[in-house]
Amino acid sequence: MSAVFRPVCTLLLGLLQVSGSPAASCRDRIPPHDQVARVARFVAHRCDWASMATISSHPPVLGQPFSNVFSVSDGPPGSSSGVPYLYLTHMEVSVQDLQVNPAASLSMSLAQTDFCRLQGFDPQSPLCAHIMLSGSVVQVNGTEAEFAKKALFTRHPEMIDWPTDHNWFFAKFNITQVWVLDYFGGVKIVTPEEYFKATPYRKPH
Ligand SMILES: *[C@@H]1O[C@H](CO)[C@@H](O)[C@H](O)[C@H]1NC(C)=O
Ligand SMILES: *[C@@H]1O[C@H](CO)[C@@H](O)[C@H](O)[C@H]1NC(C)=O
Repeated sequence: MSAVFRPVCTLLLGLLQVSGSPAASCRDRIPPHDQVARVARFVAHRCDWASMATISSHPPVLGQPFSNVFSVSDGPPGSSSGVPYLYLTHMEVSVQDLQVNPAASLSMSLAQTDFCRLQGFDPQSPLCAHIMLSGSVVQVNGTEAEFAKKALFTRHPEMIDWPTDHNWFFAKFNITQVWVLDYFGGVKIVTPEEYFKATPYRKPH
């Protein structure tokens, strides 16, 4: 069954002859769907942005869920930490919510990549792998902020030029639970421990 649904490596081999090496596309292959924690790490590393829901602090939707788009990175390409890092300013409407209540939820989907489009998977289909993270947003400092900067600025180079008077800071999504939709059978739960132990890519052999 999985061979039918995951021909992404073969598929990309034909398409990437002009733009990329076949080896690179094979390395990017999604893990088997029974390796749920690895799938979660794969999605988290491949996605450059996420929808983040906060509890609104703004009338007339005070106390209601509020979903917004944020650029994220869990590390430079090929160097995944599993931690979604964010570059934030207190001028931002959702960040103001987080100051009142840091609880949030992030969702990321392979619909953001070529994976689902090339295989004709609708974004809401469980075959188009997506994850929802529960947790909170916390500012990071010191060496972790240095890693966050490298993670974000390599994948979102225009951040380097964002206006300095906005007082940007680095933050991470502090994961308390991972929800994975990949393949049929309903949502699967991965603990933060399982998630951080897993590797998104096949070990080189
Ligand atoms: C980072 O520094 C900020 C501001 O001093 C502080 O509020 C926050 O708790 C620190 N974060 C961590 C993870 O230590
Ligand atoms: C992350 O969340 C857990 C569970 O709510 C909490 O115990 C921990 O202190 C949080 N970590 C940071 C750095 O805020």
